[in-house]
Amino acid sequence: MPVVVDESNGMEKLVLKSEQGAIAEVYLHGAHVVSWQDATGKDLMFTSKQAIFKPPKAIRGGVPVCFPQFGQLGPLGQHGFARNTKFDLLQETADSATLVLKAVGDEDEKYPYPFELTVRVQLGQQGHAPTFTQEVAANNTGSEEMSFTAALHTYFKISAIGNVAVSGLDGVTYTDSLQGGQRMQQSGDVIFDQEVDRIYLAVPDSGVQISDSGSGAVFEVHKAGFPDAVVWNPWVAKAQAMADFGDEEHKEMLCIEPAVAGSGPYKLAPGETWSGSQTLVYKAA
Ligand code: BG6
Repeated sequence: MPVVVDESNGMEKLVLKSEQGAIAEVYLHGAHVVSWQDATGKDLMFTSKQAIFKPPKAIRGGVPVCFPQFGQLGPLGQHGFARNTKFDLLQETADSATLVLKAVGDEDEKYPYPFELTVRVQLGQQGHAPTFTQEVAANNTGSEEMSFTAALHTYFKISAIGNVAVSGLDGVTYTDSLQGGQRMQQSGDVIFDQEVDRIYLAVPDSGVQISDSGSGAVFEVHKAGFPDAVVWNPWVAKAQAMADFGDEEHKEMLCIEPAVAGSGPYKLAPGETWSGSQTLVYKAA
């Protein structure tokens, strides 16, 4: 499928379709996936109704690619500049796309390091379950060492926040961003009855999943290359404070974000490449 211009906002995007009929939309701006739907048209990712589609603003929802910085873990603005920058299309098929950001080192004065960041999105299927795979690779194209943190800031669409539990993190140490980074240990599943903003450290690559008792569906999160996983729900006050997020929308989403965060930063020597990926599997009831 060729690049098309979204008539509602004038921005360029790709519409990917799997053989089974699942769909994903990927904007060139930020290599930002804004939607993933199963073959019935059900939204599996959350994008805010108040999202602002106006570069260089990052889009609220889908999967912002946070690079070369996660959050405030470095000198740059929140979550780095990849999500605010237009990528080039390298390759596409009906169900996949590869985009690249060739940073020359003048994008941000606080990050004078040239690099190439490649983002590949691939739709697939496991049995009856649609899958979404996203691979990122960062190559240091400069002559000095560069360091980075990163995340695939994935917004999942859920039936209601009170219906979900995230399993697979029992016993894992996390830093609580709401308690000044205090180290804690997860006990049992993560449930949501208040704001949650945590960086889970050294998370197993498979085994994390979201169970939604409202829909009976399960999302499996498989990752590689990213040691950590951020879990986030803004809850009421932060939802109200965000201009591009509805006051009640925290009830229909949660983020699980494979990350190089508390275990980072990673250092890349000149010429070196780091890669990471996530595969999401959606098992309907
Ligand atoms: C999460 C952070 O990854 O992203 C939160 O852990 C942050 O602290 C959230 O609020 C959203 O960030 P932003 O920059 O998209 O508003």
